[in-house]
Amino acid sequence: MIGKARGDPISITGLGAHVPERVLTNDELSTIVDTSDEWIMARTGIRERRIAAPEQALTDLALPAARAALAQAHVEAKDVDLLVCATVTPDMMFPTSSALLADELGAPDAAAYDLLAGCTGFMYALAQAYGMMAAGLAQRALVVGGDVLSRILDWTDRSTLILFGDGAGAVVLERVERPGFIGFELGADGGGGIHLSLPGSGSRRMEDAEGNGFVHMNGREVFKFATRVLVASAQAVLGHCGVSVDEVDVYVPHQANVRIMDHAAGKLGIPRERMIVNVDRYGNTSSGSIPLALADAQREGRLKKGDLVLMTGMGAGLTWGSGLMEWTL
Ligand code: ACO
Repeated sequence: MIGKARGDPISITGLGAHVPERVLTNDELSTIVDTSDEWIMARTGIRERRIAAPEQALTDLALPAARAALAQAHVEAKDVDLLVCATVTPDMMFPTSSALLADELGAPDAAAYDLLAGCTGFMYALAQAYGMMAAGLAQRALVVGGDVLSRILDWTDRSTLILFGDGAGAVVLERVERPGFIGFELGADGGGGIHLSLPGSGSRRMEDAEGNGFVHMNGREVFKFATRVLVASAQAVLGHCGVSVDEVDVYVPHQANVRIMDHAAGKLGIPRERMIVNVDRYGNTSSGSIPLALADAQREGRLKKGDLVLMTGMGAGLTWGSGLMEWTL
């Protein structure tokens, strides 16, 4: 799916993020599995990640992120009429985490649902919320992306354990004076889905499969997929919207692995200083990755009003998705 926004004056007016307190360093990981700080840094650029406390579930991370986004937008929760939560690790399958969040925040009139699109979930949710607002179905949306992947990792599997961390982010979408969103490109390839899967997590009978309930990943295949789609999706949305890559001020790729991100920025021709990188501190936080990176960029003064922002996510499905917008905050 590819589309240029119609110019509706809709944009992000609030941004928030939250990560658990507990920091897990590479050195500490090397006491759990056979790995080292040198190996992890060289292959991924990840130095440390945050891990949720045993009693913390997704909504415990998402709630502070959502409250911060609402506060920045000066929006009261009761005025939110759409709440989408992108995650692969909801508190439980149902009630949905979005419904729980709407209740805790105090948004009784909001349509609330969870969205499942792997690590690309936030980009899908952003596009949907924009679409619902542009169609006049919603007036004020809260889009949350977050995951507690530490719960679905095999803590004896060094090839996946080193990559992921926990965290959540949220944005508020409102009607504003000047249009923020310019276009989106979203896609999926279920044929490659097996390369990143969670066996035993749904209605497909998997009693005999080993490692049920844990993330299974073919790292090399996902690496190849990621380097390909980060570039192709970004080029597609830029081309469709008639925007040159030189005009991109802030590039926010999915924070999966510094090598993948550097490759994408290089192929696209985006100078590294325009790319937001926080995977070194948080690892891959799945649906939380892009809003967490946006929040960091804002805090560091790297997201300014008028900046052209290019975001691209990719992940399980396999899925990918890009969004192009002018920052209006
Ligand atoms: N520590 C030390 N050695 C390791 C580790 C580790 N943590 N993990 C694997 N190795 C070993 C392997 O056993 C292998 O040893 P061998 O040569 O003796 O067989 C060697 O290191 C090389 O293994 P590769 O898998 O080929 O290493 P690669 O360079 O591909 O790096 C990595 C692995 C980092 C996982 C890489 O493939 C990658 O980043 N893939 C993409 C993963 C990703 O981004 N996934 C998520 C995207 S979607 C989403 O966000 C949910």
